[in-house]
Amino acid sequence: MQPKDPSAEPAVGFLDSGIGGLSVWWEVLRILPGLRTVYFADRAHCPYGPRPQKEVLALVEDGVRRLLDAGCSAIVLACNTATAAAVDTLRAALPNIPFVGMEPAVKPAALRSKTGAIGILATSGTFRGRHFLGTSARYAKGLRLVARAADDLVPFVERGELDSPALRNVLAAHLAPMREAGADHIVLGCTHFPFLAPVIAELADPSIALVNPAPAVARQLARVLNLAPAVPDPAPLPPPQELLSRFSPDARHRLLES
Ligand code: DGL
Repeated sequence: MQPKDPSAEPAVGFLDSGIGGLSVWWEVLRILPGLRTVYFADRAHCPYGPRPQKEVLALVEDGVRRLLDAGCSAIVLACNTATAAAVDTLRAALPNIPFVGMEPAVKPAALRSKTGAIGILATSGTFRGRHFLGTSARYAKGLRLVARAADDLVPFVERGELDSPALRNVLAAHLAPMREAGADHIVLGCTHFPFLAPVIAELADPSIALVNPAPAVARQLARVLNLAPAVPDPAPLPPPQELLSRFSPDARHRLLES
């Protein structure tokens, strides 16, 4: 029998402004290890967070076209900012393509919070989006949300600066009001931020739980593709530093850059 040519199989496309979406890609591969993937990193236009929604929509539409041209039959918008700006338009325009999007995990944090205060780190574009506003209004009624537009953290991750005095200064300014409010959960509402989880955990109060929606997104993708997860409940994510070196494009995984 001829060995199967992986490049002939349909693939799942991942899109992010840069490498942040690898934190989602990694979770997907942990439960669906056989999947063929194409990852589009729009590094020429990163960060998306401060850009107007219309501009992000156009960039995401272009990225999705590239992924479809590369043979993808389902798309993960592995970026909260891209989801906020584009998922509704994309679903309406391409009804035959399943899109899995991301939004800050306010709901699980709100359900688990004991202090009634939650910190959220996301980009300004995500905070402007209808998904964040709708979910917060629905699930976080009566809770104190300390929402910090942390656009300034994204470039650190893009250049692989995952711990430095400068990064700690920026993070400390975001975490201080969360600490003051008595937040017991911090929602990582940008796919770049799981890379910073060790330093966030170190700087925040040790009792604070970090909430990363990527494992839930991976399970959602498995449901959408009708695939049984190989590992139903994987152990916690290894240190994010490992993620950068783990993405090695090969016949099964392609990397597209703008
Ligand atoms: N990784 C993206 C997100 O989840 C955004 C980073 C950016 O601002 O480009 O929102």
